[in-house]
Amino acid sequence: MKDSRGKTADDLRSARWFAPDDLRSFGHRSRMMQLGYSEEEFRGRPIIGILDTWSELNSCHSHFPERVKDVKRGVQMAGGLPVQMPALSVDESFTKPTSMLYRNLLAMEAEEIIRSHPLDGVVLMGGCDKTTPGLVMGAITAGIPFIYLPAGPMLRGHYAGRILGSGSDAWKFWDERRAGNISDEEWLGVQGGIARSAGTCMTMGTASTMTAITDALGLTLPGASSIPAADAGHQRMGSACGRRIVEMVWEDLTPDRIITDASVQNAAIVAMATGCSTNAVVHLIAMARRAGVDLTLEDLDALGRTTPLVANVRPSGKEYLMEDFFYAGGLRALMKQMEERIDTSCVTVTGKTLGENLEGAEVYNDDVIRPLSNPVYHEGSLAVLRGNLCPDGAVIKPAACDPKYYNHEGPALVFDSYPEMKAAVDDPDLDVTPDHVMVLRNAGPQGGPGFPEWGMLPIPTALVKQGHRDMLRISDARMSGTSYGACVLHVAPESFVGGPLGLLKTGDIVRLDLANRRLDMLVDEDEIERRRATWTPPEPRFQRGWGWMFSKHVGQADTGCDFDYLQRDFGVAAGEPDIF
Ligand code: FES
Repeated sequence: MKDSRGKTADDLRSARWFAPDDLRSFGHRSRMMQLGYSEEEFRGRPIIGILDTWSELNSCHSHFPERVKDVKRGVQMAGGLPVQMPALSVDESFTKPTSMLYRNLLAMEAEEIIRSHPLDGVVLMGGCDKTTPGLVMGAITAGIPFIYLPAGPMLRGHYAGRILGSGSDAWKFWDERRAGNISDEEWLGVQGGIARSAGTCMTMGTASTMTAITDALGLTLPGASSIPAADAGHQRMGSACGRRIVEMVWEDLTPDRIITDASVQNAAIVAMATGCSTNAVVHLIAMARRAGVDLTLEDLDALGRTTPLVANVRPSGKEYLMEDFFYAGGLRALMKQMEERIDTSCVTVTGKTLGENLEGAEVYNDDVIRPLSNPVYHEGSLAVLRGNLCPDGAVIKPAACDPKYYNHEGPALVFDSYPEMKAAVDDPDLDVTPDHVMVLRNAGPQGGPGFPEWGMLPIPTALVKQGHRDMLRISDARMSGTSYGACVLHVAPESFVGGPLGLLKTGDIVRLDLANRRLDMLVDEDEIERRRATWTPPEPRFQRGWGWMFSKHVGQADTGCDFDYLQRDFGVAAGEPDIF
């Protein structure tokens, strides 16, 4: 077999394991035969790893055992040998203290699985929030051809005639329950109806944001991120991934040809147009840096100011969910509308340009995917703030909060830990008004630990009962992509490592000035310095194990929270040492 670039079976990476006439390769061949393969099945044909992040506690990936079969079918049709390789599942719902503590572990695992095994190409199977960036970061560094297979969103939630959206409606119904407006029976009904099929959260949360970004980067089959998990088209997409990755191996279509400054810019624009999760900031920066693209918070803020939000999908939109987005034409249709703003010459996993992939794409419902002339918001998917509370940046999602908080001054109500805050918000005597600015600190990458999604701080019950559903909140935590409200997040540097959020006191006046992208405490500079001089670092969160390693090496939010020693420019250049 030979492709247009002249790659032959002898050039296959797996040939290094199986071709030489020496004792070590004899061992490799004999062990493949122990697995039941004859030589003609594993020699001279691409061996395709299927990195499968399935587990029995990952509800979003519960269809993966079936989907692996579809991928294998495709690989075999194209003349490759598929091998399933389990990888860390990193489920969002059950992993404590937070799945973000383990994104880099998955990235390391993916990289090393690929590097250490006789694989010529890889299909990455993920979708639940951190699995997408984790797999992609590792595969970028490993450097061999890969294609990403997104898990696909679950079907719309449903209860008593109401359509329910992942996360967003859970928060809303929880507030109504705290306010005494819904019964236990209704609450249980929502619990049973909000997640009713395999697949990822079906709002434009972090999962849908990250798979859309991966699609826009050119790392999935065109539009694959929009196909619901339960749709038969998702099975066909799985098989197509299997067929295509075999061709990619022969074409030597490696990720460095796909992920470029231009494709990262495309992905950021598409993220803004979809009303992306704030988590996109952290993950896209980390993914881009693995590919040598230095995406900054300022780049993202500039795109946030100029990119209209056209995907009318919750939580930024009022009504629709990912299933509606798919029926309206999906990401291909959205990107077709953005064609003048993106670089359509970028190469993708199809071997064609982005522009070629978008040919024929159409919007079928222009209320779900709005025209640029009638967006949901003219700007505002994300904004990056600076100021004396966040010298290295903070993030807010203006489209998901009440505009009255865009310019706000109020007294701080500061909590040092989540348990302290949780106890206080239910206290009927809590001294709080709607003008207060709730602050949670020690919730960043080091302090959380692991940068948990605590940033949508609960509105105090006393205010909820008065009918309030939003207030200005600030933390060095992240928030779920399905969350909403006037929440300033990712304050950097985090308080746990000496960031100025740690110097704020209850009663200090805080000012948010969104138009000027400022977040400040109105405290005299001399007083800030006095407080800084007496600040003492907290005890480390971990003394051993993964947590200790994480604490030693994780970066701050503005740099994507990758580990220092995993970044592209650390030590020797990324690549594959010839160690055998
Ligand atoms: Fe898996 Fe939301 S919990 S995508």
